[in-house]
Parts: sequence; structure tokens; C-alpha cells
Amino acid sequence: MHIFQFLNQRGRVQLLWPWATAVIGCLVFTEAPAQTNQTPTYLRDIQPIFMGNCSRCHNQQSRFVYDWLDYKTAYTDRWEIRRRIWDSWKGTYYKEAMPVANSPESLALSEEERATIVKWVDNGGLRGVPPPPGVAKSKTERIDMGKRLFTSVCAACHQPTGRGLPNVFPPLAGSDFLNADKNRAIQTVIFGRQGEVVVNGLKFNNSMPSFPLADEDIANVLTFVYNSFGNSGLEVTPAEVKALRSQPPVSAGSSAPSGPPAAKSTFE
Ligand code: HEC
Ligand code: HEC
Repeated sequence: MHIFQFLNQRGRVQLLWPWATAVIGCLVFTEAPAQTNQTPTYLRDIQPIFMGNCSRCHNQQSRFVYDWLDYKTAYTDRWEIRRRIWDSWKGTYYKEAMPVANSPESLALSEEERATIVKWVDNGGLRGVPPPPGVAKSKTERIDMGKRLFTSVCAACHQPTGRGLPNVFPPLAGSDFLNADKNRAIQTVIFGRQGEVVVNGLKFNNSMPSFPLADEDIANVLTFVYNSFGNSGLEVTPAEVKALRSQPPVSAGSSAPSGPPAAKSTFE
């Protein structure tokens, strides 16, 4: 992967910069089809990596670190991102490598993902266009599309096996919490979840951020989860996700905010 370092002609990128803003649109539209595998864009390639590997700390709610799920923020600080996930990691930059060591999902950041981020920066930090929504025509298609999203985002924490990590990330495999209440599961992915949660008799007290995912994506990924890992086989539709966006979040337990009654919960 060292090739990316040689390709990093920083002088050239910076020379381009004064008029880059004007041509970003053109780059996306004229070059993207031919270079699908070569020029990473934020919305298609980078944001999913940030969701899985960085967002537990770098999210909209965090007050002391930047929100990498926001394009402008990531774009503005892209050179420091590059240094932290590549140069520091290679030992050539004095600051701490990112992600920091006490986050298991950091171990899931692969060399290939790091190289993709580097390449994104070196190519001008393009925003790109949102990937087309994964509109599934059947449950089988939904599961297929959901699997891809699970692998690129959820697996960093819940593990490719869906079994999670003790004390840190709860299991989705055979999860009584998941199977007991579909609406609550949907809202967990829409809004994220903080505080204590009991899954299969084990306590977790951590934080899952909310992700910028479309209704279709959430429907697909949860349908995949429900139809994998020994779960109940339910299907989640985009309409269900859409309806739940405007409902107050269902509480996991005693720390329920006052407000309209939460949907039925089997956990007190
Ligand atoms: C477990 C929490 C955690 C995770 C996960 C994490 N970071 Fe950080 N990050 C921090 C903290 C805390 C700081 C501030 C302290 C510092 O600068 O080292 C920080 C600082 C940074 C900075 C320096 C920003 C600046 O300009 O000062 C960059 C860049 C960065 N993180 C990138 C990333 C990227 C990219 C990922 C995911 C691949 C990531 N981080 C994952 C906690 C985290
Ligand atoms: C950055 C790590 C992280 C990522 C990525 C992540 N989760 Fe979570 N997830 C958590 C944590 C931590 C909790 C428990 C939160 C708590 O303690 O309140 C959780 C809880 C859950 C729960 C409820 C508890 C259970 O085990 O049944 C579901 C369902 C869930 N996540 C689904 C997903 C799905 C689907 C995705 C991918 C779109 C995803 N998560 C991505 C960290 C993550």
C-alpha cells in the first residue's frame, strides 16, 4: 500500500486547490464512472468507514472532538486525519495514531481502509454524490443489501459474527433485546443508544452514535440482522423506519425521559 504515499503529490494537489471548488462537480460527474475504484469520495467510501470506526467518539453530540460524519468538518481537517490514521500509524508523526487504543473498533480499521482515506485526501477530499438508496424488490434483496451495510458499518463494533464484545458491544446474535421489540431496535439505529442496556442477561453501558442512514438502509440492515445470527426472521420496511423517525425514542429502561408513553418494553 506504500504506492499511495508515492502517489501523494502534495504540490500538485495544492496547486489545484484555488480552482478545485469550481471543478469538484465536474470531477465527480466526468470522472467518477471511469474511476469508481480509484477516486474515493466522501459519501460513498469515507463516511461509512467513519461511521464504523470513528463515530463513537467523533459524532455530532461530542463537544470536544470533531464530528467526522459531517463532510465539511472532515474536509476542513482532512490533512490532520491523514496524518493521524497514516503517518502516526507508521511512526512518522509525533501525535497519537487514530483511532485511539482504547477503542476495540479501532482494531477493525484495516490497512486498506486507511489507504482509502489517504487516497481520498490526496485526491482533493471529494464529497461525491450520495450512493443510490438500496431499494429492494424482495426480502431476499433486502437481506443482500443489508449484509453489505452491516459489513461496512455495524461489524466494526458488533463483530462480523454479530456476537459483539463482552462489556463493550452487545451481541445482535440471538439478542433477546433485539427480538423482543422491533420498534425499539429500529429506533436504536435511527437515534443511537446510550446508557445501560441488558442483552441476554449481560449488562452494557456504552454509547452507540446515531448514523446518517436512509430509511432504506436501516430497513435493509435490520432485515439482514433479523434474518441472520439465529434471530427471529422479521422484515423491516422503509415505511416503518420513516414512521418511527418522528416518534420519541423508546427507552431501554429506567432512565426513561418523561413524555408520551414509550412503546411496550419487556425490560424495565
Ligand atoms: C475512542 C474514541 C476515539 C475514536 C474511536 C477515534 N478518535 Fe479521533 N480523537 C479522539 C480524541 C479524544 C481526540 C482529541 C485528542 C487528540 O487530539 O489526540 C481525537 C482527535 C482526532 C484528530 C485530531 C483532530 C485535530 O485536528 O486536532 C483526528 C484527525 C482524529 N481524531 C481522527 C480520527 C479518525 C479518522 C478516527 C476513526 C478512524 C478516530 N479519530 C477515532 C478520540 C477518538
Ligand atoms: C461504534 C460502535 C457501534 C456501531 C458501528 C454500531 N453499534 Fe449498535 N450498539 C453499540 C453499542 C455500544 C450498543 C449498546 C449501547 C448502550 O450501552 O446503551 C449498541 C446497541 C445496539 C442494539 C441494541 C442492543 C442489542 O444488542 O440488541 C442494536 C439492535 C444495534 N446496536 C444495532 C446496530 C446496527 C444494525 C448497526 C449498524 C447500522 C450498529 N448497531 C452499529 C455500538 C455500535
